[in-house]
Amino acid sequence: MKFEFSLKKIEEISADFELVFIQNKNIKNLKEYKNFFDLNNYTGEGLCIDLNSKKLFIELKSLDYEDIRKSFYEAYKYLEKLNIKTIKTPSIIGECVVRSFSALVEGIIFASYKFDKYKSEKKQSNIKKIIIAKNDINNKKFNHDEAKIGISRGEILANATNFTKNIVNEFPEFYTPLQMAEDAKNLAKANKNISCKIYDEKFLIKEKMNAFLAVNRSSVHPPRLIHLSYKHKNAKKRIVFVGKGLTYDSGGLSLKPSDYMVTMKADKSGAAAAMGIIKAVAELELEFEVHCILGVTENMIGGNSYKPDDILISREGISIEVRNTDAEGRLVLADCLSFAQDLKPDLLIDLATLTGACVVGLGEYTSAIMGNNENLQNDFYLSSKKSGEYTTILHFNPYLRELIKSNIADVCNVSSSRYGGAITAGLFLDKFIRKEYKDKWLHLDIAGPAYIEKNWGYTNFGASGAGVRMCVNFLIYLLRNNK
Ligand code: BES
Ligand code: ZN
Ligand code: ZN
Repeated sequence: MKFEFSLKKIEEISADFELVFIQNKNIKNLKEYKNFFDLNNYTGEGLCIDLNSKKLFIELKSLDYEDIRKSFYEAYKYLEKLNIKTIKTPSIIGECVVRSFSALVEGIIFASYKFDKYKSEKKQSNIKKIIIAKNDINNKKFNHDEAKIGISRGEILANATNFTKNIVNEFPEFYTPLQMAEDAKNLAKANKNISCKIYDEKFLIKEKMNAFLAVNRSSVHPPRLIHLSYKHKNAKKRIVFVGKGLTYDSGGLSLKPSDYMVTMKADKSGAAAAMGIIKAVAELELEFEVHCILGVTENMIGGNSYKPDDILISREGISIEVRNTDAEGRLVLADCLSFAQDLKPDLLIDLATLTGACVVGLGEYTSAIMGNNENLQNDFYLSSKKSGEYTTILHFNPYLRELIKSNIADVCNVSSSRYGGAITAGLFLDKFIRKEYKDKWLHLDIAGPAYIEKNWGYTNFGASGAGVRMCVNFLIYLLRNNK
């Protein structure tokens, strides 16, 4: 898909189809376009088509970035069924020019995303080019360089998000830890500013990552610790992302019921998001040093499984009582967060599909933000809102901390209560954060939006690439505000 910003007026541009935006009105009641409705051209989703003049009328609810994304998504979804190659559209400028153009491009690229490699019959669209005219629907004047920056940012963000979706959507027998390592190496090969180191189980043993190793024990696929890094020559800060990379989570001996096991190929979403993030950061050439530490393994079942009642000595030296082998993500992350802190980060962010409780509490569209630094959490929350991802802050409290105490070890891997599971998982991770990094750490539980088995908003069935846009937008926010 090509995006072109044209300095011509929309009337002067030639294309197979034109988008016309209708604001502040209900498209069904619109008198000016009554003819089309009489001809039954109302398509039912805020869209109305005129095949004679080759125009698609689209309702634009507001100039919010989310409504821009949604309108272009709907327009593309409708037009992809027709045999057309080029589309022209006016510009749409909301609060910020760059973000508005980025939103437009995101809407289109997300609409064009398909994971159909395993389908014999592929539905291919012929749309090749979107030409964006310089006239804005509200006749606002704007800087055209900013428009071009917005288009490029939108392409990078949306393609990185789709890259993450492709990883998450792959099936578990194919997408093993070795496959993720392969993809990480290829990512580094494709981008000269990214480097990649892969560590095997011998390294994990040497590093005393016993919690991570315990989770891997009954899998026939060996684990991998993947370290991706990128460094700009004017790097302002060192940022480390840690990703939960469970290529499959069966629950282990605390086996999941069958209905809950389906979709657990998506338990690698945190690691996949971190890969998308470093891809986008490198392509945007952001002035940071960024590292991604990915803990990649399966959680399986067998004679060699780790067990409820086991005690594990983690890399930090903190002992863990295992009471449920399905709370495995926090074990892998505990050792990876320990490794990550040795890199001396200025900011440490982990991404994980960590708890079902988070999905129960927040619904399937929202990720949770946790940590000890309220300013950092608030800044992240406000910036994520503009990125198009839904988040909410879940606050720690001392009473919930009580619930992960163990009688026989330093901490227990599950809470003694049925309530507050997303926060108690966050508090478990907090145990492994050293004093000097407490205020530099954020935990993002993306269990809800990472994978949803239906189309929603401008996301198609399956993986959503949750985490990529909100984290990259946060890094851009840090640079713009000198934080
Ligand atoms: N990977 C799951 C969490 C999950 C559930 C992600 C649903 C996405 C959708 C995680 O490893 C898990 O199984 N957590 C348990 C923890 C419990 C045993 C304390 C859970 O949430 O049930
Ligand atoms: Zn689990
Ligand atoms: Zn899991």
